[in-house]
Amino acid sequence: MNAPALINSALDVRDQFPAIAGWHYLDSAATAQKPQAVIDAIALAYSRDYATVHRGVYERSASMTDAYEAARGAAAGLIGGDASALVFTRGATEAINLVARTLPKEGRGRVLLSALEHHSNIVPWQLAGYAVDAVPLTSDGRIDLDAAEAMLTEEHRLVAFAHVSNVLGSVLDAKRAAQIAHAKGALLLLDGCQAVPRLPVDVAALGCDFYAYSAHKLYGPTGIGCLWGRAELLNAMPPWQGGGSMIDRVTFDKTTYLEPPMRFEAGTPHIVGAIGLHAAVEWVEALGLDAIHAHECALVAECRAALADISGVTLFGPEDSAGIVSFNVDGVHAHDTATILDDAGVAVRAGHHCAQPLMERLGVPATARASFAAHSDSSDIAALVRGIEQVKRIFG
Ligand SMILES: Cc1ncc(COP(=O)(O)O)c(C=O)c1O
Repeated sequence: MNAPALINSALDVRDQFPAIAGWHYLDSAATAQKPQAVIDAIALAYSRDYATVHRGVYERSASMTDAYEAARGAAAGLIGGDASALVFTRGATEAINLVARTLPKEGRGRVLLSALEHHSNIVPWQLAGYAVDAVPLTSDGRIDLDAAEAMLTEEHRLVAFAHVSNVLGSVLDAKRAAQIAHAKGALLLLDGCQAVPRLPVDVAALGCDFYAYSAHKLYGPTGIGCLWGRAELLNAMPPWQGGGSMIDRVTFDKTTYLEPPMRFEAGTPHIVGAIGLHAAVEWVEALGLDAIHAHECALVAECRAALADISGVTLFGPEDSAGIVSFNVDGVHAHDTATILDDAGVAVRAGHHCAQPLMERLGVPATARASFAAHSDSSDIAALVRGIEQVKRIFG
């Protein structure tokens, strides 16, 4: 094996993650572990500052409302957006469902997806009655934008692509995707679940129309995510859930609604989730997404080189994938690989990764997936390699 250059935590944040001590956590693409700063912010929100938002007249409620709205500003600012265009949702899944259910179709009943999409960016469109077309991938596992351009018609209301693939790590040329979509009068929705924790994102520079992400993949809590949308599009979208907080005036005859984003946030929101998300945004911003991206790219290069040196290991996805390496040990089911790695103290995901159509295209039932985060370092890769060697010994 080539001796990999040691990347012993160029970011030096491993000690900030109490839950990974003595463990090689390579499943950040499923959900990120939480730095102490996020854990502390959540604990303080419950133990010192807690109250409801948008309703109370007492001071604690007013300051919690300020904190909740400051979180909205931070979550929007992270992707170059404005707070007024940022809807809090339960996660990226709910964000995409919201668009699928409420965006007026304007006579266009098709949506253009790609072969690598997560089920969260397939099923909502089907449920909302769109006809779905899927763009093929290039041989190295990127969304084939030439094919997208050829496939897009004036029947397509949206193009909806993953900004970064959760299986292959491939990074979309989002600017070009936006140009292709807009040339045919379609909108571009980016599923930013895997991009936001790994790359600097600027929705205005990308030229997209909607952007969805989840806090829990960004070192924040579960149960909260974001939908950013262009203001005029959000304004034209009707509410999809009714209840408190989203109304202007209710009578038994007629109800009127608030402007976005509140129009889409019925009920008591995930108040402390927003506080945790704010802390996570501050944490990644202090580290710098450029630095996180460079760190994860170096780890991917090191990991791919190390796995390529092991005979009988197949690697999927492009060389320059962002933070994610999918692989299989020939003749061994990914679940067996992951079970043996678990015994060796290495956590990887195994399965179809909520991307069954992609597995079909790859011609495999499942892959094993190592995914990196800011706290990952060369010791994780060395443990992964030792574990894979053990898999090969056990399976002969
Ligand atoms: C690319 C991608 N899209 C969407 C999702 C769904 O995210 P959530 O379950 O947080 O809503 C995920 C989660 O794995 C993902 O990786």
